[in-house]
Amino acid sequence: MHDDILEVLISEEEIQEKVAELGAQITEEYKEKFPLVIGILKGSLPFMGDLMKKIDSHLEYDVMDVSSYGSAFVTSGEVKIVKDLNTSIEGRDVLIVEDIIDSGNTLKYLTDLFKYRKANSVKIVTLLDKPEGRQVDISPDLAGFIVPDKFVVGYGLDYIERYRNLPYIGVLKPRVYQK
Ligand code: PRP
Ligand code: MN
Ligand code: MG
Repeated sequence: MHDDILEVLISEEEIQEKVAELGAQITEEYKEKFPLVIGILKGSLPFMGDLMKKIDSHLEYDVMDVSSYGSAFVTSGEVKIVKDLNTSIEGRDVLIVEDIIDSGNTLKYLTDLFKYRKANSVKIVTLLDKPEGRQVDISPDLAGFIVPDKFVVGYGLDYIERYRNLPYIGVLKPRVYQK
């Protein structure tokens, strides 16, 4: 285990098992459709990559880079588009892929934006859901795991850009962000 990690919350095996389950549910849900799956960078990258391979139907994918935390510890509440989509979403069945929904600001902003851009439908799949962090009223259509109100990193989730490459979800030692 990494030296800055207090405990492993969700192991690599548990993640992969859940990803396969979510992939099967998405396959079923969109089998008569041609969804546009949108991964939200940078956090969703590992989840997006693994999930795609478990969806057994026609789809198209794109990525969008947004940020609301920057290097800060708490959300600014203001979502910034770092890189927009290359694909028009008008009339499309959009599935947003996120690593975590915490305050909900990012996903509220994105679902509003995609509806404004006239998507036919907008759904959310997130690997992690932290309901205690919620500041706006939004909930995912599919969620892998409910996590407690602790600082979690790994499998795409960072603390000042670090730990994204861990294959598991871990709780960060307080000394790391207290110094
Ligand atoms: C993190 C995470 C989600 C968002 C969730 O992204 O990946 O996208 O915050 O938090 P919220 O529900 O409070 O909005 P961040 O803005 O840190 O960018 P990153 O994905 O590049 O790390
Ligand atoms: Mn993110
Ligand atoms: Mg981040």
